[in-house]
Amino acid sequence: MTAAPEADVVVRYEPRGAAKQLLECQSAEILIAGPAGTGKSLAMLFKLHLSCLAVPGLRALLVRQTHASLTGTTLVTFERSVAAQAMAAGTVRWFGGSARQPAAYRYANGSAILVGGLDRPEKFLSSEFDRIAIDEGTEVTETAFETLISRLRGTAPTYKQIVAACNPAQPSHWIKVRADRGAMTLLHSRHRDNPAYVRADGTLTEAGADYLAKLDALTGVRRLRLRDGIWAAAEGVIFEGFDPDVHVIAPFPVPPNWGRWWSIDFGFTNPFCWQDWREDPDGRLYLVREIYRTKRLVEDHAKHILSIVAPGGKWSEPRPRAVICDHDAEDRATLERHLGLPTMAAKKTVSDGIQAVQSRLKVQPDGKPRLFVVRGALVERDAELDEAKRPTCTEEEFPGYVWAVKPGGALKEEPLKQDDHGIDSLRYVVAQRDLAPRPRIRILG
Ligand SMILES: Nc1ncnc2c1ncn2[C@@H]1O[C@H](COP(=O)(O)OP(=O)(O)OP(=O)(O)O)[C@@H](O)[C@H]1O
Ligand SMILES: [Mg+2]
Repeated sequence: MTAAPEADVVVRYEPRGAAKQLLECQSAEILIAGPAGTGKSLAMLFKLHLSCLAVPGLRALLVRQTHASLTGTTLVTFERSVAAQAMAAGTVRWFGGSARQPAAYRYANGSAILVGGLDRPEKFLSSEFDRIAIDEGTEVTETAFETLISRLRGTAPTYKQIVAACNPAQPSHWIKVRADRGAMTLLHSRHRDNPAYVRADGTLTEAGADYLAKLDALTGVRRLRLRDGIWAAAEGVIFEGFDPDVHVIAPFPVPPNWGRWWSIDFGFTNPFCWQDWREDPDGRLYLVREIYRTKRLVEDHAKHILSIVAPGGKWSEPRPRAVICDHDAEDRATLERHLGLPTMAAKKTVSDGIQAVQSRLKVQPDGKPRLFVVRGALVERDAELDEAKRPTCTEEEFPGYVWAVKPGGALKEEPLKQDDHGIDSLRYVVAQRDLAPRPRIRILG
């Protein structure tokens, strides 16, 4: 497709399949869903861009659940693959935001795409829009989605529309249910829709072969969802009680006197995970900050942690009560040396640790579980993990943390050792709090 709505910008984009349907579809609510890398985000972004060029004064909003994930991925795609030429020509300019105004791409014809994360909605939720696009729509709650719909009251001469792009999640996910009952138009995006990966004759390009090899390496429910595009429920999920609507909560000012625990699982090829937990006076645990990343030395992680808790070399907060660690002696020694803190070896027994976590996830008579993850706890997203479609934080490990399977198909009583680094750290802190050391029994005689 070639469009030249303004003399100096020519946009080249070949939309296929669901991407083409998306460009043409005027439904009020659209869900474009499919496996990883089919061109969903690109199609959604192109639609915003082309609409802004074509309709002067159009107001659009581009959101993701968190501001960090939006700037880290979606906006990169927008600037590189969608608006590069228009930005170079000055038809589109980036406005970085101000105390009162949200960040936006501003078009010469008066159109604008405001951008933001739903973790910081104050600046944009008071505005009215003609079009809204949500990347990774499964990350947002239905309540947030409906709030966004209520902002679709722009006055530009064009139809109002909200589009969400996502990979499939569990079949009971609200967004799938909403599409199934007909409230949203569901477009099925497939790899063959992406000319960067699949040629018109159906053969894979070199980039496509590389990308699909990564997806082929996935297992379990991630493979079903991200490679095959199926809204699959995970089988043998260990923490069935984990429900993001219950356990993942909005950030809140944590009282400084709450207990502090750090928990660490070492890794280099696999992610290193540092978790900063707070404990309220009733013993509930809150994961407030997290580092989850690969290919960085322990020494550098220690420096990173210190830059967070002791900027300029001076601690700006109380030290943790304990630093609970995975057992690697060398890594512990390095960490201790660089942090200037002692560490303690985690209690690593798996089955009682899992039970202790399960019991903390249960909602208690007071209406609350005893363990929470604070949304946006992740300090920095690991682009390589993101790219490989691996979990990028502890929260994302939960759905794929499953029991191992015996050759006959029965479930073993141990977890599958895969994508369990955040969960391991989480188990260490829970074991530390809940599994009191057993009294030693000495048999005399
Ligand atoms: N029509 C197209 N023409 C050229 N390149 C495309 C096209 N569609 C997608 N691509 C390229 O393919 C890659 C994947 O596209 P995109 O990120 O939009 O996929 P996605 O479906 O959103 O993936 P994910 O499921 O990971 O969110 C990007 O590099 C994108 O630029
Ligand atoms: Mg995408």
